[in-house]
Amino acid sequence: MNAPILVTGGTGTIGRRVVPLLRAAGQDVRILSRHPKDDQPGVRHVAGDTVAGTGLAEALDGVSTVLHLAGGAKGDDRAALNLVAAAREAGVGHLILISVVGADRMPIGYFRAKAAAEQAITESGLPWTVLRAAQLHEFVLPVVRGLARLPLTPIPTGLRFEPVHVDEVAARLAELSLGAPAGRVADIAGPDVLGVRELLAAYAEFHGKGRPRIRVRIPGAVGRAYRAGDNLADGSAPRGHRGWAEFLAEQASDAVVPASTAALGPRG
Ligand SMILES: NC(=O)c1ccc[n+]([C@@H]2O[C@H](COP(=O)([O-])OP(=O)(O)OC[C@H]3O[C@@H](n4cnc5c(N)ncnc54)[C@H](OP(=O)(O)O)[C@@H]3O)[C@@H](O)[C@H]2O)c1
Repeated sequence: MNAPILVTGGTGTIGRRVVPLLRAAGQDVRILSRHPKDDQPGVRHVAGDTVAGTGLAEALDGVSTVLHLAGGAKGDDRAALNLVAAAREAGVGHLILISVVGADRMPIGYFRAKAAAEQAITESGLPWTVLRAAQLHEFVLPVVRGLARLPLTPIPTGLRFEPVHVDEVAARLAELSLGAPAGRVADIAGPDVLGVRELLAAYAEFHGKGRPRIRVRIPGAVGRAYRAGDNLADGSAPRGHRGWAEFLAEQASDAVVPASTAALGPRG
């Protein structure tokens, strides 16, 4: 029995990978979620909502370290302010935030909210760590899939991603959660910076030939920011090893129905 680490967003894509790593390190874990699941050995779920500010006091009771992963399209700024206020009350000793590469540069609401969340944490007066991550492969996949399905595939010029593997982000977050407050640490990004054409080409290797393509230009400040690479980590950022093609291969092998199962045929 040890002081649990509170993981907000412990039910999400990244959180689901971090929690087992913390458990493997011998840590008890508490998960704050709007849809709490059944408890498991060493893992307790608490109902709460970071944006509404509910359930935070119960979730933080007896907690020294908080890994704040909960996030969505809207409200990450408000959520961080709520969490900081509750964490101060609880006397938390280490607050860790996942943010996004380019948070302070991209003129998009999601990024702006992440920048405000960073500010809430860094000005909280509590010891803190902030890790900015690039987009996960899981985030880039539906974008690429959506483009590939269009009858005429638009190729936004200058739009690049550096997708990173969720396991590598989770490992880094677990390491930071088990360590001392470190302030703003180096961003984490995937091994390759890939344009949409390259992302689509690798996708086509697994999912068949692409459609006719047309170059398009993303207009306005958002387009300028993407073309300038404001969503990308700088050259010195540590890079993961598990790239886009490896991720697509994993997805393809997960989708294959094992022969023994297929042989059973439909149940009924
Ligand atoms: N995915 C990416 O490419 C990427 C890149 C950089 C940074 N990030 C950031 O990393 C974090 C985790 O991303 P992810 O991909 O794991 O997200 P995800 O799969 O969409 O999961 C979101 C998590 O946040 C929780 N959550 C959302 N709104 C909440 C609220 N109001 N109150 C309490 N919990 C709430 C959800 O829990 P319940 O639904 O169970 O309540 C869920 O566990 C997010 O902050 C995201 O912005 C993601």
